Amino acid sequence: MGFVFIAFVCLLLRGNDASSTKMTKNLKVLVSSNDFPESGLKILEENFTVLKSCFSNFGEEGLKENKEELMRLIPGCSALVWISHHQITKELLDKAGPQLKIVATASAGYNHCNVPELTARGIKLSNTPNVLSPAVAEIAVGLMIGAARRFNENLKQVHSGEWEIGFETVLGQDLRGSTVGIVGLGGIGQAVVKRLAGFEVGKFVYTGHREKPEAKALNAEFVSLNNLLTQSDFVVLAVPLTEETKNMINETTLAKMKNNAILINVGRGDLVDQDALYNALKNRTIYAAGLDVTTPEPLPKDHKLLTLPNIFILPHIGSATLRTRSDMAVLAANNVVNALNGKPLITPVLP
Ligand code: DGY
Repeated sequence: MGFVFIAFVCLLLRGNDASSTKMTKNLKVLVSSNDFPESGLKILEENFTVLKSCFSNFGEEGLKENKEELMRLIPGCSALVWISHHQITKELLDKAGPQLKIVATASAGYNHCNVPELTARGIKLSNTPNVLSPAVAEIAVGLMIGAARRFNENLKQVHSGEWEIGFETVLGQDLRGSTVGIVGLGGIGQAVVKRLAGFEVGKFVYTGHREKPEAKALNAEFVSLNNLLTQSDFVVLAVPLTEETKNMINETTLAKMKNNAILINVGRGDLVDQDALYNALKNRTIYAAGLDVTTPEPLPKDHKLLTLPNIFILPHIGSATLRTRSDMAVLAANNVVNALNGKPLITPVLP
């Protein structure tokens, strides 16, 4: 009897799903790039009419051909699935029209989305936090090692065939025994601390708006930014870009850092005043930097930061693993499914 009842409820639910899919199938969803993972696309295609740009939303193509293509495809869309950090502008929202319900950005950061404008229009916004924290944290640890052990200089030696072999040449710094300061102990910051568990780090400190309950288990001490800067051997930036965090690393804050300090940035390029960073690295008032993010991106190949030996730069690959990008795509797609079925967003920025 119980089984029959459960089977009946399941049938009802399936029926509901099928009818809601039927109802949403005529809604248009625009995917902004031709390289959105299949896993996410499948979910969207099962539920909606998917319009997908045939261009990539990255690099030159993203700025030229794809911009035009998106403007052509966008009118009448109910959802935008946004891949890349191109601006969600007023012009774009106007072109989409009043039926637009949600922008689902396939990124944790949403500084490229005009939040006040979306709010004013009552358009929902979702992002993809958490699923990318492990991958971004791995890159942060990679940058810590890369900058501390002078990968940039050492790789140049390998490519030139001129190795400086000696007992006291190209010496780097240890993570072992160091003080690691995390600016922003959110998902990514916490994942960095967890990943460093085997490195015999001496002490973890962190800063942010308030103490985090998770910090206790991580053995991380809450301190002010000032305190963190003055005592850390590694300063890891894992905060979003906001008016408050913009240029938080500048001439003044760099001057507080130790001479052996290594700055790591996996947040956004604009957290750092790059001219001030250049001077600090050039004058060796700090030891090195490891950046996954810069301003602009791509960084021009003749940019002065690239002339420095004590910097290790990656081209914003924090979340770039097969599994993570697929997870981000599925999360973005499911946020759209929920939004267009009147259900709460899974990872809302603007619910
Ligand atoms: C994000 O999602 O914000 C990361 O920077 C990867 O793009």
